[in-house]
Amino acid sequence: MRVNHVGEVCAQALYTAQAATTRDPALRRQLLEAANEETDHLAWTRQRLDALDTHASWLNPFWYAGAFTLGLVAGRLGDPWSLGFVAETERQVEAHLDGHLDRLPPGDAASRAVVLQMKEDEARHAQWATDAGAAELPAPAKALMRLAARVMTTVAHRI
Ligand SMILES: [Fe+2]
Ligand SMILES: [Fe+2]
Repeated sequence: MRVNHVGEVCAQALYTAQAATTRDPALRRQLLEAANEETDHLAWTRQRLDALDTHASWLNPFWYAGAFTLGLVAGRLGDPWSLGFVAETERQVEAHLDGHLDRLPPGDAASRAVVLQMKEDEARHAQWATDAGAAELPAPAKALMRLAARVMTTVAHRI
């Protein structure tokens, strides 16, 4: 759940940075709307961490700064690539949440409900970005994102 919480910290940062860089007001509105849903996710995962009596990642300021920089870079590449980055990120997050559902203790209904709802929302964000004209990222970029996500999940799991 700590990893999920970090993911939502990063989602906030990404969407905010991307909203700041686009020149399209309609796209900016939609990015901010998605960022708003990520705020809900952030609150739910935080509540689960508190209920499970554990801490959030100590590195959250670092995750936020890193993701914000990435969002600025994606935004500077132009809207189709920026949206392509959203679509691929959300698809990877959805796959991660799917895997997390399998590993959650069966008795932890509250965590399950949170992860399920987030998975649904992330799938919708991916679909929205695709519909809005996302460019398909090249395979090496996707692989690099998976690698970065693996580093993040491994580190955030511990600290
Ligand atoms: Fe989210
Ligand atoms: Fe999302």
